[in-house]
Amino acid sequence: MSRIAHPAGPRHGDVLPADYPPAPPADLNALHPGIWPRGAWRSGGVLMLGGMDVRDLAAEFGTPLYVCDEQDVRSRCRDYLEALGPGDRVCYAAKAFCCRAMLRWVSSEGLGVDVCTGGELEVALAAGVPPENIALHGNNKTVDELSRALSAGVGDIVVDSFEEIARLAYLTEESAARPNVLVRVTTGVEAHTHEFMATAHDDQKFGFSLASGAAEEAVRRVIASPGLSFAGLHSHIGSQIFDTAGFEVAAQRVVGLAVRIRDEHGIEIADLDLGGGFGIAYTEEDKPPEVMELARRLGAIVDGQCQAAGLARPRLTVEPGRTIVGPSTVTLYTVGTIKDVDGLRTYVSVDGGMSDNIRTALYDASYACALASRASSAPPVLCRVVGKHCESGDIVVRHAYLPSDLAPGDLLAVAATGAYCREMASNYNHVPRPAVVAVSAGTARTIVRRESIDDLLRLDVG
Ligand code: LLP
Repeated sequence: MSRIAHPAGPRHGDVLPADYPPAPPADLNALHPGIWPRGAWRSGGVLMLGGMDVRDLAAEFGTPLYVCDEQDVRSRCRDYLEALGPGDRVCYAAKAFCCRAMLRWVSSEGLGVDVCTGGELEVALAAGVPPENIALHGNNKTVDELSRALSAGVGDIVVDSFEEIARLAYLTEESAARPNVLVRVTTGVEAHTHEFMATAHDDQKFGFSLASGAAEEAVRRVIASPGLSFAGLHSHIGSQIFDTAGFEVAAQRVVGLAVRIRDEHGIEIADLDLGGGFGIAYTEEDKPPEVMELARRLGAIVDGQCQAAGLARPRLTVEPGRTIVGPSTVTLYTVGTIKDVDGLRTYVSVDGGMSDNIRTALYDASYACALASRASSAPPVLCRVVGKHCESGDIVVRHAYLPSDLAPGDLLAVAATGAYCREMASNYNHVPRPAVVAVSAGTARTIVRRESIDDLLRLDVG
């Protein structure tokens, strides 16, 4: 097969990025730290994850396969706890990746769990997360979801709308439950991230606007409801954010609101939840802020703000999802077909695609990938890693340099797929969703089973 080592340039009317082609990396076999799991290395050229040879994982569990390094997850939980103050709290945002094993790990490390639907709540309860360590979010919680949260004894409910305050007030009228309620505030901060991941500007669906006075009105209504215990304020400015200034401004504005609440009601907030949203590195170009440093800085800002306002320092909560689980997981694919589009790039088709990772298609996300089943010293070729779905937007990695001797049957590893990949997976084209395997100290076990065609047909009752 003739494959171009360096593309001659764009053709075929493609709209190409200004920096096309990206520069090839110095070493195709290198695993850039910060992108791959902390326990990843190459042994004899083969990628090892949690002490397991990826060829053995593929042989035993099949591909595509999400391989999650348990120790990586646990170490990131510990980083957060170390960075925050002793009375502060870290809640893992289950939406990033939610299954019982994952929630057990984070819970056993001392984290709480934030859930945003009744489904996530049931997984957390089934995992044995103490209900008082669970926080329920969501912009449209149903009466059933709220009732379940109340009967289960969920620790915090973060209210997002006036309707929800009324529903909760009604549900608690004749019950003994007196839930802790936090009011979700949209602070008007402009987060520098993809439009679909920004949540603090006023023109979107989440929360009560600070600027319009809705947030203060929501607090009034919660305080006026005898069945509700007003615990504090919540702000989440968005996701995959690198610029720390947004968090700082949001923290200042929410503390400002806390001062006004004290002045109006004589009540000091017990809880201040600054949400999640800290970014991770998907490629070598990404330079996210150091999580421990960021968490420390947030703590210091809240300390300083509260001190200046004469406010007792509330308990600070952060709700990271991506930074806990994102870097822990690698998706293993088997290369199926390879097609050169002369002068432009090489298309490498793998056995999964947009059904196991929709993020490239949805957010134009970038990923790093590498030949995993062997090392190669062949020259780099500019490739696009694509899936097996019936549309040309089915792209897993838009730009990837892979060795020119790449061949069908090789294993390809895509890094940092722990957050929002299995969680947003679909059955498009009736492709069963892959398994998730946890690796740790040279052992591997399935934590989420691979779907089978029988699973898909079971729901098809016609
Ligand atoms: N807390 C709240 C209230 C949230 O809405 C979110 C994420 C988090 C915490 C966790 O944010 P993280 O630390 O993971 O950034 N599907 C998108 C991400 C959507 C995030 C939604 N909310 C993606 O694939 O990038």
